[in-house]
Amino acid sequence: MRNRIFLLVMVLAIASLTSAQPRVVTGLTSWKFTRNDDLSASVPGFDDSSWQSVSVPHDWAIYGPFDKEIDKQTVRIVQNNEEQASEKTGRTGALPFTGTGWYRTTFSLPGELSSKQVLITFDGAMSNARVFVNGKEAGSRPYGYSYFWFDISNLVKPGDGNVVAVRLENLPFSSRWYPGAGLYRKVNLIVKDQTSFAHWGHFITTPFVSDETARVNIRSRVQGENLSIRTLIRDAGGNIVAENQCTTRYGDDMIQDIAIKNPRRWSPEIPVLYTAELSLYANGELCDSETVRFGIREIRYSAEKGFELNGQPTKFKGVCLHHDLGPLGAAVNRAALRRQLTILKDLGCNAIRSSHNMPSMEQLELCDEMGFLFLAESFDEWKLPKVENGYNLYFDDWAEKDVENLVRATRNHPCIVMWSAGNEVPDQWGSAGVKRAHWLQEIFHREDPTRPVTVGMDQVKAVMESGFGALLDVPGLNYRTQLYEEAYDKFPQGFVLGSETASTVSSRGVYKFPVVKAAGVTYPDRQCSSYDLEYCNWSNIPEEDFVLQDDKPWVIGEFVWTGFDYLGEPTPYDNYWPSRSSYFGICDLAGLPKDRYYLYRSRWNQSESTLHILPHWNWSGPEGEVTPVFVYTSYPAAELFVNGKSQGMQRKHNGSVLNRYRLMWNEVTYEPGTLKVVAYDEAGKPVAEAAVHTAGKPYRIVLEVDRKTLIADGEDLCYVTAPIVDKEGNPCPLADNTLT
Ligand code: GAL
Repeated sequence: MRNRIFLLVMVLAIASLTSAQPRVVTGLTSWKFTRNDDLSASVPGFDDSSWQSVSVPHDWAIYGPFDKEIDKQTVRIVQNNEEQASEKTGRTGALPFTGTGWYRTTFSLPGELSSKQVLITFDGAMSNARVFVNGKEAGSRPYGYSYFWFDISNLVKPGDGNVVAVRLENLPFSSRWYPGAGLYRKVNLIVKDQTSFAHWGHFITTPFVSDETARVNIRSRVQGENLSIRTLIRDAGGNIVAENQCTTRYGDDMIQDIAIKNPRRWSPEIPVLYTAELSLYANGELCDSETVRFGIREIRYSAEKGFELNGQPTKFKGVCLHHDLGPLGAAVNRAALRRQLTILKDLGCNAIRSSHNMPSMEQLELCDEMGFLFLAESFDEWKLPKVENGYNLYFDDWAEKDVENLVRATRNHPCIVMWSAGNEVPDQWGSAGVKRAHWLQEIFHREDPTRPVTVGMDQVKAVMESGFGALLDVPGLNYRTQLYEEAYDKFPQGFVLGSETASTVSSRGVYKFPVVKAAGVTYPDRQCSSYDLEYCNWSNIPEEDFVLQDDKPWVIGEFVWTGFDYLGEPTPYDNYWPSRSSYFGICDLAGLPKDRYYLYRSRWNQSESTLHILPHWNWSGPEGEVTPVFVYTSYPAAELFVNGKSQGMQRKHNGSVLNRYRLMWNEVTYEPGTLKVVAYDEAGKPVAEAAVHTAGKPYRIVLEVDRKTLIADGEDLCYVTAPIVDKEGNPCPLADNTLT
């Protein structure tokens, strides 16, 4: 027996020596880093021993310190309707992201390279990347969010001691939010045969889907001659559900149509995934293989039914997300992204918009797996600037390449159901902008004929006049609820998307009196009220969108600004240092739900009920003050009690926009004790209860974890929430003890 195993091992070893090695993908994670700028760092022999050792993904700026002077911008923000320029502190997070940074690492290659192709790939590098391999410049890429790669076969040598150096530079006045800095997304080295699949070479679509059969079309770009592809398609359980052999070639493309019997469709509710294992043979010998994950699903946009997923009219219950992960900064982290999506699932959210740039691969993979529709955006600027050193510097030379790479790198993700060519670009004004919109949309169509293109438009009157809005596949409106009807009427598409909505502002657990609905309110403590009635002069409270979503079948959904607070853009405190992160989030910067979470949850989460009371019940001022109480609930009616005394029954009704979605007791007088709410169903039966208690003195710290098992990979994370409670275990809403 022993001898037989030995023999088998020998045979396998010989087989692997004789046949070509399939591709090897290595993550380049260990780097040296410095903020000193010195071009000689590109030279292989350069001594980097004094540099810091870092692991990539890495964000050099998140370590701080915060500094008011960093990227201080004296600007008039046109899209915020500002009349005059003023000094904006914290607009980009007040973290040291501007200036240069260098990264260096070494890598080894096989001893024999003559038949190999070597690629280096970046999922994004912030920004103005210049990449040097063994002292020679391999290429550059200005846009920090773009995916890019270089063929470095001619720059490398066999064996050890290959050196890659990356110079990055972030200009001041280049962003409207915290962009992060450095190699904040993955860097990979790919070694494959010259005869192989081209990078990002596969495009998998499902042009026909029925209950019986799905047609899976796989277009693979290939390099080399006398090729054939063998394909195995597996379901999520690893079972082979289809096989195919293909030799047909059209230029550089090999195209297969494979039938899958009884296909299971991908949807946010049941995100079923398949994999295609593609093996490339030249003259019968294996030379490359890749596994591509995909989903079987149908999308359709029409005036009759709006957006349909697998034949079901579906509304986007979406949120916009910036790419930073709050206190973790911009370095991509799968566990942190998964936590965000877990929170958003509970919210009942079904869609994400990667505002205003290319998403990370990790986020797309998670959205495929966890079931979120995805609106993948590209730019916040085209040729005309919003900020002096923004994308306008690169648009002419790079926009086409950046869009190509966005689509080619991500088109196999079933979650992506729409592309966005831009957000509130100043090019909405004037005929040159109309041409740019057309040009960009055509690039998307050329690269991917299966998904429509939108632009988030805020200059709604202008785009109605110019034809800009009419030419887009999907007209996206940012705010401007008062113009939805007119846009629907004037635009030819027959539907409208709320590409960006609400921009309501609040601070978790902070309540301001008197309780009034108002735009642009500020307070000396630089907080916003959590009664969810404060917004910006261009935006609105959530309910003004709900009415459109509910009453207008031609509104195909909304993307709320934003799911989570983010670093930078501290509106309405963008000139009140030390404010430096946003107030827009449905959840705060730590990812904890604000009250607003429950307002959206009461509409969006259809599988679980919501019953949430605000404000807290720990007022220290004189008793007897009027303290309005709101209840966010999925139930139609509820009765409120203060220390057992009924405050009456409230029922949702159409009397006002607010009354339709919130239950409000505006005349409650505060007395310490218990605030209790009893919810009633449609039939008038009491069905659920919730209560808030006046807490005593802070007594104990509770530690709550979001997960109990971690993978020891140096990246996995557990979030520990630390509520402070009184002796009885009631949360102390005013405790602001410093925790160590
Ligand atoms: C929009 C813009 C977003 C953010 C938001 C704040 O106009 O697209 O990036 O600035 O306003 O309300």
